[in-house]
Amino acid sequence: MICIPLTTKTETDSLAAIDAANKHADIIEIRLDYLDDPNCAQKLIKHSTVPIIATWRKIEDGGCNDCNDNIRLQWLQKAANWGANYIDVELEYADEFPPQSNTKIIVSHHDFKGFPNDFETILENIRKHPLCDIAKIAVKIDKIQDNLRIFQALKTSKKETIALGMGELGLISRIATKKFGGYLTFASLTKGTESAPGQITASELRNRFRYDKINTDTKIYGIIANPVGHSMSPDIHNAAFDKLNLNCLYLPFKVDGEPNAFIEDFKQIPVYGYSVTIPHKESVQKSLSQIEPLAQQIGAVNTIVMQKNNELHGYNSDCWAAINAVENKINLTDKNCLIIGAGGAARAIAFGLQSRQANISICNRTFEKAQNLAKECNGLAITQAEVQSIKWDVILNTTSVGMSPNTDETPFDKNGFTPNCVVFDAIYNPLETKLLKEANSKQAKTINGVEMFIAQGARQFELWTGAKAPKDIMQNVMLAKLKN
Ligand code: ATR
Repeated sequence: MICIPLTTKTETDSLAAIDAANKHADIIEIRLDYLDDPNCAQKLIKHSTVPIIATWRKIEDGGCNDCNDNIRLQWLQKAANWGANYIDVELEYADEFPPQSNTKIIVSHHDFKGFPNDFETILENIRKHPLCDIAKIAVKIDKIQDNLRIFQALKTSKKETIALGMGELGLISRIATKKFGGYLTFASLTKGTESAPGQITASELRNRFRYDKINTDTKIYGIIANPVGHSMSPDIHNAAFDKLNLNCLYLPFKVDGEPNAFIEDFKQIPVYGYSVTIPHKESVQKSLSQIEPLAQQIGAVNTIVMQKNNELHGYNSDCWAAINAVENKINLTDKNCLIIGAGGAARAIAFGLQSRQANISICNRTFEKAQNLAKECNGLAITQAEVQSIKWDVILNTTSVGMSPNTDETPFDKNGFTPNCVVFDAIYNPLETKLLKEANSKQAKTINGVEMFIAQGARQFELWTGAKAPKDIMQNVMLAKLKN
């Protein structure tokens, strides 16, 4: 179930919020501490078409209006009398709250400061309390592995339990709680009306993460990255799972530091496949029992697949996607290919081109990096001046030159394009960079960053599921998001 907490102050705003929340929520939480006049809760409770949780959070538990504890408990009793379906009362006050006949009691504990060492003991004490119908614990997540203790607590629970992690690192617990039997999750009505750190909106939970389709059999996939918030991989992969009706969920894993302990620890869920991106593409290799030869050569893995025996195998779908996209337009053997840039993406492309016997030249702001990469892939490091004197069959930009907001920049002089040459830009914001615009105007064949992103994602999807990726759907989702 999804519970939307109200964070409105006036009766009028709260009634409007209830009307809106009734369309998206299974339950609504009325926070008496937010209300200018808590008496209006009587009207709000009557107004809602979905069940109501009433609570008054103390300031130290994330509340916004302190009051004497006796008076606080009296307000909770009033809310129960007015017909609230649930009252949430903290464990330390539960002894003082009388048993109710028609109202379920959520006995809760909150910790906004950090993940308590005695998490399991606190939860056990909540569950054992005679008043407790539903146990609730919401704590700040300090490290991503803390989520595993939450999932474990949910899996082994014999009593209805709400267990959620707060903060950015707790996001996965808010989304995946249903898989592990969590009673409900909290989600905000709109951006900016969160009642606790880390909440996302109910519509993001439903649309981006397919909350309604999650169940105990749902297979987990995800991206390992840092930062991870702006990644479009969850959008395209969850949309693809949805299209093919696969019981799978793709999560964003924000992994700080080295990723190998995370990968090892999360085998207990398990996670069936990962996308890997900055800054973990090199370091994840330690966790893998097998890496495809091209990815080994590149020294970077962006796709991990769990095999039947729980072994993890690594691939590089960036390389595959770029080379495939170019090969759809031109046969690469013996062609003059210019790579602009000498970072991770350039490396993936360079070894892909080498595997196709192309003539590789590399031009980079830091010449020494171009020389080093050229040495490894049997290519040539060239200067900006030399770039203009060669006729290129393929030009591949892997730098951020031309990326929004610097959309009037280009890494290549337009006089160097020849008709029919292939021009590739890894940038997808904007969709058509100045490089591609000028290439198009010279009748070159162009490949944009969206095609590349979708192709690498589609390859990942196919490696994980064995099914053909619904590229059109993935691309539509990405384009719609970019438009926003
Ligand atoms: P990625 O994994 O996307 O390839 P990266 O490894 O950081 O990212 O590499 C970025 C590449 O773009 C580098 O080759 C970088 O040049 P330097 O080696 O000189 O750092 C290049 N790059 C980034 N911004 C650039 C700019 N404004 N002008 C020219 N080159 C740029």
